[in-house]
Amino acid sequence: MMRTTILDIQKMKQRGERIPMVTAYDYTSAQIADRAGVPMILVGDSLGMVVLGHTSTVPVTLDEMLHHTRAAVRGTQRALVIGDLPFLTYTTTEQAIQSAGRMLQEAGAHAVKLEGGAAMAPTIARLVELGIPVMGHVGFTPQSVNQIGTRVQARNATDAAQLIEDVLELESAGAFAVVLELIPAQLAAVVAQRVRIPMIGIGAGAGCDGQVQVWHDMLGLYTDFKPRHAKPYANLAGIIEQAITTYAEEVRAGTFPGDEHSSKMSEEALQAALA
Ligand code: KIV
Ligand code: NA
Repeated sequence: MMRTTILDIQKMKQRGERIPMVTAYDYTSAQIADRAGVPMILVGDSLGMVVLGHTSTVPVTLDEMLHHTRAAVRGTQRALVIGDLPFLTYTTTEQAIQSAGRMLQEAGAHAVKLEGGAAMAPTIARLVELGIPVMGHVGFTPQSVNQIGTRVQARNATDAAQLIEDVLELESAGAFAVVLELIPAQLAAVVAQRVRIPMIGIGAGAGCDGQVQVWHDMLGLYTDFKPRHAKPYANLAGIIEQAITTYAEEVRAGTFPGDEHSSKMSEEALQAALA
């Protein structure tokens, strides 16, 4: 089975095929997402919140991202795996080359994602020149939460015009796709029409070329809060809690493990050992 490439992703937009993307942070979950046929898996720095229990993505380190990306990549055969570059690991073009280089060479990611608009264009252009596919990310950029708060971005005319400009700059710089997070649906739809590269939305309406959801949100695993843009397609937290409760009951009752979960030795061997 052939690995999905950034060209495949771009062709999907040309054909008018919407693109589903989901995050995954380990081998088993990436394997499930790959089997489900999603063409792109993002190892997002959202792992800082949903896996590591931080209150934002700001504390996430490159080493943590590499560790989880390595595991996720091993679970995939077909999906394009994108490694998120965490906060302050791409402050200069040189640093971005180091960080993105490790993401591809050490962790096996096929592309990186980084947050920011026009200001990131020169860095993206250089990464692309070196053969590193880059996904952009504008609108609400969680690594700037201390600067911008958590809210819908680009609601007024000035900010909306700036966002369009940012995306055009990212496209010119060679980004293969861009995440649009928490922006008005009408704006996202216009942006998607104005560029050739896919716009992947989260909280940006149905006019995007694709959508991304965080694993724990879409599966009902993260219960600290439910973002408005998240749709739980399952209630895994409830299912898992029920399974563990049943297991604990069976252990307490002595009904687990059963014979089928255990192994035996010959009575002679046991007696000989005790003699
Ligand atoms: O870290 C993440 O999961 C992301 C997506 C929400 C786009 O950046
Ligand atoms: Na992220």
